[in-house]
Amino acid sequence: MSFPIRLSRFRGTPAIRSLTAETQLSAADFVLPLFVSECIAGSRPISSLPDVSQYDLSSLVEEVRSCVAVGIKAVMLFGIPQHKDSRGTAAHDPEGIVQRAIRALKSEFSDLVIMADCCLCEYTDHGHCGIMTESGLDNDETLKILQAVACSYAEAGADVVAPSGMMDGMVASIRTALDQADFTSTLILSYAVKYASHFYGPFREAAGSAGNFKGDRRHHQLAPSQRMEGIREAELDVAEGADMLMVKPAGLYLDMIRDLRERTLLPLAAYHVSGEYAMIKAAAKAGIVDEYEAFNETFIAIKRAGAGLIITYYAKEFLTK
Ligand code: PBG
Repeated sequence: MSFPIRLSRFRGTPAIRSLTAETQLSAADFVLPLFVSECIAGSRPISSLPDVSQYDLSSLVEEVRSCVAVGIKAVMLFGIPQHKDSRGTAAHDPEGIVQRAIRALKSEFSDLVIMADCCLCEYTDHGHCGIMTESGLDNDETLKILQAVACSYAEAGADVVAPSGMMDGMVASIRTALDQADFTSTLILSYAVKYASHFYGPFREAAGSAGNFKGDRRHHQLAPSQRMEGIREAELDVAEGADMLMVKPAGLYLDMIRDLRERTLLPLAAYHVSGEYAMIKAAAKAGIVDEYEAFNETFIAIKRAGAGLIITYYAKEFLTK
């Protein structure tokens, strides 16, 4: 039988497949989230997130050493402080756990890109992402604290601050504060399109923010139904001076990654979140999927959709397999 095109010609051998592969993953695509705790000595596994641990300062440095050795080029820090209060004061303590971690990592690993999550939910005793009043979350009061947090991270040496609280105006106010304090080269990675997702559950244990948290985040995070509104969030963050944008969660929101890729020129990150990670781990443990292959396919899909950076708890394991 003769007909002009047989696409299977492209699939006949591994060499041809690899020569014509449109999407490839490499170490530079990944950002590894890490939890640094002031409340433990050594490291402690997180039961909701298989194979992920919290670290104290010195075990964090050792963990990062082994990550750098397998090719990790960027980390995203989350802090678990000893002290929590209604205003999340520990989040901008110059001697806070994240600030100390940034300094320790910067002095050991000069080529590592250090990102720090900029939100109050790990630092407030009520677990909300900002300052609470009788009528709910006070967006603009929260911005003042986020400015202080971002400046304290920049002062400690963070390359990238990543506001994740979905406050209105967070990018503009953080940019202003950073510039006024002369941190003009600190980048802002905005969690621009962040959904109020059920897939953050395991993170809340990991970050110690579950304990007292009784509310929900639907007042400030996007509803899963919202596509146009998500695009507007991203456009606003671009206008406010964001350097990079993020879509979160990643795997369920590939359409949003593609939408942003087609509409903006900024580097684009996607966060494969705790629940997405834990589901694949659980399925692999139950013998339902091959763990590496399931993650590999997921990451290819995220990159193919348009993300240049993939934030994932599996980054180190992925690069060692
Ligand atoms: C907020 C923050 C959260 C995550 C990252 N930053 C939790 C939330 O918004 O409730 C979730 C990440 C994950 O689930 O892996 N500081």
